[in-house]
Amino acid sequence: MIQSVKPELVFIASEMYPFSKSGGLADVLGVLPLTLSRMGIPVAVITPLYGRLSTSAYPLRLVCENCPVGYPWPTISADIYQADYQGIPVYFIDRGEFFDRRHYYCTAKNDYFDNCERFIFFCRAALSAIQRLDFPVSVVHVHDWHAALATAFVYFWRQHDSFWADVKTVMTIHNLAFQGRFSNRLFWNSGLPDEAWNMDGVEFYDSFNLLKGGIAYADRITTVSPTYAQEIVTPRFGCGLEGILAKRKDALVGVLNGVDYSVWSPGQDTFLEQTYDLDDLSGKAICKKALIREMRLAPNLENRPILGFIGRLRGQKGIDLLLDIIPALMREDVGVVVLGEGKPAHEARLLDLMEKYPGCLCAHVGYTEELAHQIQAGTDIFLMPSRYEPCGLTQLYSLRYGTPPVATAVGGLKDTIVSYPLPGTTGFTFAESTPAIFLQCVKKALTAWENKALWKKIQTNGMRADFSWNKSAQRYLELYADLGLKK
Ligand code: ADP
Ligand code: GLC
Repeated sequence: MIQSVKPELVFIASEMYPFSKSGGLADVLGVLPLTLSRMGIPVAVITPLYGRLSTSAYPLRLVCENCPVGYPWPTISADIYQADYQGIPVYFIDRGEFFDRRHYYCTAKNDYFDNCERFIFFCRAALSAIQRLDFPVSVVHVHDWHAALATAFVYFWRQHDSFWADVKTVMTIHNLAFQGRFSNRLFWNSGLPDEAWNMDGVEFYDSFNLLKGGIAYADRITTVSPTYAQEIVTPRFGCGLEGILAKRKDALVGVLNGVDYSVWSPGQDTFLEQTYDLDDLSGKAICKKALIREMRLAPNLENRPILGFIGRLRGQKGIDLLLDIIPALMREDVGVVVLGEGKPAHEARLLDLMEKYPGCLCAHVGYTEELAHQIQAGTDIFLMPSRYEPCGLTQLYSLRYGTPPVATAVGGLKDTIVSYPLPGTTGFTFAESTPAIFLQCVKKALTAWENKALWKKIQTNGMRADFSWNKSAQRYLELYADLGLKK
């Protein structure tokens, strides 16, 4: 049945859950296309065939051998594989020397030296596949810097190639801080015409900026929450691109991400020792006990709040703020659990603190999907002191798991958490990313936790909140319809 899907909407992205994942981008790609497909849109996804891809549950089929790509030199080609993911076709771009590596983008120390070539190749190969396989495409929807340049190619090709003449593009920014900035010399063999090299195109202070290309040439630009859409046109959050974003403000819109509740629901979560739901939270206490065992936390913490952090250990996520307040938190007699990996300096500091507070601060440096679910369920409070947050998904998961978040009031966190003591409170937000203000907010949450009735209310408010994809997918549908995609 999959062969009969003739995609009119094509997503191009560097990650897609469950095949590949380094963060929320993958989660979004794992569910938004499916939701749109269920709404009747013929959709496909194109993504790289990484060496570390998880495809065992989804047999791959070669659908185009030696598909000519024409980059970085004319004879180069890609093999295109296809899998059926719950009824939608997913196409994988295979070129071993670019994608068959241990990591997606970088080692612990450095970005891969050839990321520019890798992802221009990916964009060009994805567009070649669309044309070779003769998709009746009307909208190409690209995500983040890795896929951004596809919009520029479509923009220039549609001026002289009838295949692209009516094709429109949407660029979604999941994180403006990652732009794909490279030496200007790499522009000259990218295959873009010389006229793209200007300050309203891909040029950024004499460097080649792939995300800027996406912003410049896409027909519509979206980002993943309404507040972030407002923030990124200002110097504080614009990462240097606020100028071009402000220029393109009429094409820019914020559409909030949603949650795949078939993956993230405590009532049907197979990773949990005991499932639970709104009507009966008793399973959450069993998950807490299991987490205490699993992470080797002190058994007496069963009766004290345990705070969880899941995320990349980077400045964006405010992991340093959390590490700064660990000694003060330890004086509150609470447990802290951290899951993540990232900057070696943060990892080292985390491990040092863990030695200092055995049984009270427990960390798993790395990431497993299973532990992420178990921490969401087994902790009492979720910490997300991000300095900026385009949307944030982990706080949405924590709401559903009855683990109220303490988070900075930025971006999507501001849009998704009703802060104490507002009516309908679901969590606690604070305005400024400083350790003192963060600590003050955590203490507010700890005081609320002591009041069992109040706490249960906050938990159940959050569990009831509905961030399913349907509403947001509807917004995307309107956007595509504006660009000519017929339903
Ligand atoms: P971001 O995309 O900025 O990392 P989000 O909150 O949008 O943050 O999404 C995070 C998603 O990635 C969640 O599903 C979370 O469990 C997962 N995650 C967190 N850290 C890692 C990691 N090191 N590797 C893979 N996935 C991770
Ligand atoms: C990015 C952002 C995060 C967002 C995710 C999915 O990685 O940092 O806030 O939720 O993309 O859109």
